[in-house]
Amino acid sequence: MNRLTGKIALITGAARGIGLAFARAYVAEGARVVLADIDIDRARAEATAICAENGGEACAIAVPLDVRSQQSIDAAMEQTLAAFGRLDILINNAAVFTAAPLTEITREDHARAFDINVTGTLFMMQAAARHMIAREGGGRIINMASQAGRRGETLVAVYCATKAAVISLTQSAGLALIEHGINVNAISPGVVDGDHWDGVDALFARYEGKPPGQKKREVAASVPFGRMGTAEDLTGMAIFLASDEAAYVVAQTYNVDGGQWMS
Ligand SMILES: NC(=O)c1ccc[n+]([C@@H]2O[C@H](COP(=O)([O-])OP(=O)(O)OC[C@H]3O[C@@H](n4cnc5c(N)ncnc54)[C@H](O)[C@@H]3O)[C@@H](O)[C@H]2O)c1
Repeated sequence: MNRLTGKIALITGAARGIGLAFARAYVAEGARVVLADIDIDRARAEATAICAENGGEACAIAVPLDVRSQQSIDAAMEQTLAAFGRLDILINNAAVFTAAPLTEITREDHARAFDINVTGTLFMMQAAARHMIAREGGGRIINMASQAGRRGETLVAVYCATKAAVISLTQSAGLALIEHGINVNAISPGVVDGDHWDGVDALFARYEGKPPGQKKREVAASVPFGRMGTAEDLTGMAIFLASDEAAYVVAQTYNVDGGQWMS
């Protein structure tokens, strides 16, 4: 079933991990995707690979994007519209993880995480919403939250606060934009294996004195489903939220986490 046929989607942070899995899943559902990432070389290579896997069809392009820069956001939107003529779906997926004991958090690290995870999400939503409102064709915005946004963690105060802010922004933007037919919702993953979690594991190894890999084994054992998530575990929700079936879903954050969080 092709649930996104003809749709144009821009996915931030799509050069790897969850964003890349979303790009592949969306193309498989008939969408054309823009892989927007600060790592433009990797995004270009992945876009080329996606097109090659689809018989050379021009179903994916890469554009450079640093969500910390308004100029970069505006340029990514312009390149998307120049290539595909419109934008139907935005996934705000780009983010950075950070961890430190509360007494060691620096203003620089705090500012960087909020700039990317929160301010970047807000102004990407604004850029997409301005276009979608002017087009009068509605749209979908999906923000990547986290179980970390549901409650605090001893070593993860800053990242947790950024993801709580993403959940709040999703609620406010969802209420503000539904009158224009733009549904804003969020996905809250639990622990998803990949490059991101290798970095998380390394930070816990440093601050909790654990050998490399141990934190990952511990979190995997704590998931009720019985293992860490994969990026592909999240694609069903990302397709659903972008599809016609989710027309009445507004301002929600959905847990896709193997049973880790229950509200
Ligand atoms: N992996 C997990 O366990 C997990 C759990 C909960 C939530 N999440 C969230 O899911 C999303 C994707 O996670 P992931 O594991 O794929 O992350 P990842 O670190 O593997 O990928 C993040 C991507 O964002 C890009 N990026 C970083 N800074 C950027 C910037 N300033 N502008 C544009 N692009 C930038 C990176 O180049 C990278 O391609 C994130 O929002 C993350 O917080 C992940």
